[in-house]
Amino acid sequence: MDLTPKRASDSATEMVQVVLPNDANPLGFILGGTVMHLIDIAGAIACHRHTRSLLVTAAVDDLQFLHSIKVGDLIILESHVTCVFTTSLEVLVDVFSEETLTGRRQRTSRAFLTFVAIDREGRRIQVPPLLIETDEERRVCKEAQARRAARLQRKAALGG
Ligand SMILES: CC(C)(COP(=O)(O)OP(=O)(O)OC[C@H]1O[C@@H](n2cnc3c(N)ncnc32)[C@H](O)[C@@H]1OP(=O)(O)O)[C@@H](O)C(=O)NCCC(=O)NCCS
Repeated sequence: MDLTPKRASDSATEMVQVVLPNDANPLGFILGGTVMHLIDIAGAIACHRHTRSLLVTAAVDDLQFLHSIKVGDLIILESHVTCVFTTSLEVLVDVFSEETLTGRRQRTSRAFLTFVAIDREGRRIQVPPLLIETDEERRVCKEAQARRAARLQRKAALGG
């Protein structure tokens, strides 16, 4: 594993796709499960860009759907790594809808996911450090440490 530190911008990812009828419920809105799938993919891509390793999803923090996204709109997912621990890392995924005809854009969800880096035998491996360059990045990473502690408590409560 190359442990050269990386910036958050090195992992920044934008995924854009049009919502098609096949993605939608009978009301013509994208399925929550489809959004969750895309969040997992957008988070994984950012983490792959940071680690250049195999990964598994360890946790997805609570998820809200603030607005519906309708067939014909664009769904946009923006992700980047927020904080790196030893073998795990946290990624933020913001989800937006964009009306194709007006350009009106709204945030519809925000999710924090944790991925764990593994080798081909499934053993956990160390991940490269995150270069923190701004006060905002420092704040986000500090908050990530608190989120991580809460997550591990929830995991322990589940018997994990
Ligand atoms: C995620 C997984 C690898 C963790 O294994 P584990 O034996 O509990 O590992 P450990 O307790 O040694 O933790 C390894 C790292 O993951 C972190 N971690 C483990 N479970 C976590 C959770 N639920 N939330 C946040 N971080 C978690 C630990 O804090 C530790 O981080 P660090 O090395 O950066 O300090 C294991 O539970 C697993 O394989 N789960 C299934 C993953 C999966 O199938 N995902 C869906 C498809 S990809």
